[in-house]
Amino acid sequence: MDRVCGIVGYVGPQQALDVCLEGLRRLEYRGYDSAGVAVVCADGTLRTARRAGELRNLEKLLADSEPLEGTTGMGHTRWATHGGPTDGNAHPHTDCQGVLAVVHNGIIENHVALRAELEAAGHELASATDTEVVAHLLEDAYDPVTGLAAALTVVVNRLEGAFTLLVTHAGEPGLVVGGRRSSPLVIGVGRGETFLGSDVAAFIGHTRDAVELGQDQVVEVRRTGYRVTGFDGLPAETLPFHVDWDLAAAEKGGHDYFMQKEILEQPTAIEDTLRGRLTADGRITLDEERLSDDDLREIDKVFVVGCGSTYHAGLLAKYAIEHWTRIPVEVEMASEFRYRDPVLDRNTLVVAISQSGETADTLEAVRHAKTQKARVLAISNTNGSQIPRESDAVLYTRAGLEVCVASTKCLLAQITATSLLGLALARVLGTKDGEEVAREYDTLEAMPGLVAETLTRMGPVADLARELSPSPTVLFLGRHVGYPVALEGALKLKELAYVHAEGFPAGELKHGPIALIEQGVPVVVVMPSPRSRGVLHQKVLSNIAEVRARGARTIVVAEDGDDAVLPYAEHVIRVPQTPTLYSALVTTVPLQVLAMEFALARGLDVDKPRNLAKSVTVE
Ligand code: AGP
Repeated sequence: MDRVCGIVGYVGPQQALDVCLEGLRRLEYRGYDSAGVAVVCADGTLRTARRAGELRNLEKLLADSEPLEGTTGMGHTRWATHGGPTDGNAHPHTDCQGVLAVVHNGIIENHVALRAELEAAGHELASATDTEVVAHLLEDAYDPVTGLAAALTVVVNRLEGAFTLLVTHAGEPGLVVGGRRSSPLVIGVGRGETFLGSDVAAFIGHTRDAVELGQDQVVEVRRTGYRVTGFDGLPAETLPFHVDWDLAAAEKGGHDYFMQKEILEQPTAIEDTLRGRLTADGRITLDEERLSDDDLREIDKVFVVGCGSTYHAGLLAKYAIEHWTRIPVEVEMASEFRYRDPVLDRNTLVVAISQSGETADTLEAVRHAKTQKARVLAISNTNGSQIPRESDAVLYTRAGLEVCVASTKCLLAQITATSLLGLALARVLGTKDGEEVAREYDTLEAMPGLVAETLTRMGPVADLARELSPSPTVLFLGRHVGYPVALEGALKLKELAYVHAEGFPAGELKHGPIALIEQGVPVVVVMPSPRSRGVLHQKVLSNIAEVRARGARTIVVAEDGDDAVLPYAEHVIRVPQTPTLYSALVTTVPLQVLAMEFALARGLDVDKPRNLAKSVTVE
């Protein structure tokens, strides 16, 4: 499964290799674990070249080999999430005869069954990827009379999951065929040349006339233009548009900042992390399981370790995992856990959360846990990174590449993943049966829509952030699952706007922090739901009254219908009603936007804040 990759296809008068390499460079922000190209050469052969690592590794390989000359081709950069970042797993993948090639972005959920069918039929698959099954299915489906598009139409109807596929065939120079379901693909319409790309950045240097492909569509591109059909083979509607972004903006999907883009990608990040996890008998599948159910049944203690935002994800995980499994969960900052000689043994499960999978503090915590014979499960966003590699089991978030240093979509994907983990453990331990797990999973599947709804309401939050941006300090309050959200809101403001911000449990105010309150201090409060946390709700209202009485400006994040907050709040930020254990998925969003707009109002770079790095690989 390779969720966020760069994909380029070309047919026209230019050398396909040049166009594809240029397109892959323009998608550089997506990161590389490998890169590859396929060209239908003038001599009627299909030639491929691929290399693990940065694009420059592929360029070096190409410089040292015979030129790939031809005007039909495609390219791919892989941001691996399924199958390690190796030469053998790099795209493109070919059929047994080496006459057709495939590049892929997404996940083919039924690839295991398809692989078994193909191997039983005599196909030899060389890689560990889900993608390669497509090349061999095409080999069986291909008929030179009906052509490559017809073959791909047959194949896509056998695939489950989200995917963008491009295919070329040595016997059909001048043609690149694409197919997509729930994964991006756009056509670039040039003069006497046509492009395909996972986004417009792939070809914006050549044309700004593009066509958005719809769900379940197959496209044939030739020099003279394109033809789009549905998975049923019938002509399909398309959506031409003109790209008015410049290249820099195109790499950000038309947004000014990666942070904006990634905040808006959060519904998809949750959706993709959930996709295909529930089995027919109500179990949750992890990605790599080197722990048996018997191993898990021996677990009598859980530690969750992480840093920064992932530590906050851990704090949220505690509520869900303890509630569903009745196993005690401790949450610690990895840098503290590592050196305090925690009590660990083979019945302890250490859950290490890290989007980069390379954070030194967390990696050292994992290594320490292993020396104490504890079982380790990694939750990471980066396939093949060090922390998953050194863990006994892995649950990958599928948030796609997160470029902005301040984590947003990875955090929401981590909250989703720790919920999945809690359900997986509860099912194995027997504290939840299959139906209960399925019901919770269904509730989780509704969350992307609620996050999307929340995102539509962020206009006033941006206005409020600009109004508050001169404030030298901001406090955040929350109770229960609102407390980690308050911590995250404070962290976002610190790291983006360089403002002193602090999160507290609302109940702690009277034990000291209330001394910080004076006229005009903004206090952001994450309200518990009155529906399910009535007692806490009332207590937090009292806490708000306490700070208002001392001159605080109260900004209250409250669910739809909670009108009890109105007399207490200078500003109310509404979020959709959600179950308590999932409420962080919607209440975190306004705090992300508040911090981003606060920083922008201060003229700061929200994608690259000062003093910070995306992955802290030193202790
Ligand atoms: C989050 O906004 C920060 N950039 C930072 O706290 C980050 O969450 C932390 O460094 C952990 O990174 P990791 O998930 O890659 O391990």
